[in-house]
Amino acid sequence: MKILVIYDSYFGNTERIALAIKDSIPENKHVVVKKISDFDSSDLEGVEVIIIGSPTRAFRPTEAITNFLKRSI
Ligand SMILES: Cc1cc2nc3c(=O)[nH]c(=O)nc-3n(C[C@H](O)[C@H](O)[C@H](O)COP(=O)(O)O)c2cc1C
Repeated sequence: MKILVIYDSYFGNTERIALAIKDSIPENKHVVVKKISDFDSSDLEGVEVIIIGSPTRAFRPTEAITNFLKRSI
């Protein structure tokens, strides 16, 4: 099972959480952690689970995460 963790982060807090999520998943799972700025649509190949993390900025996810969600839904 391939799991993709996508996150955005300005100051590193959400990045630390994304990496902690990766560390919490058993090693027999294939986990890829990607910052949204490094995301490419080929990252979605074979993915069964997506975990998305964003800092809250003015009561909303970041613009990059919002755009990703709009494209993906
Ligand atoms: C410009 C700005 C706006 C923010 N707006 C919110 C907000 O609306 N609600 C909230 O709970 N935190 C808000 N925060 C706090 C951040 O969400 C919080 O510091 C977060 O841990 C930052 O994540 P990062 O280190 O991954 O960038 C804001 C921070 C900044 C700098």
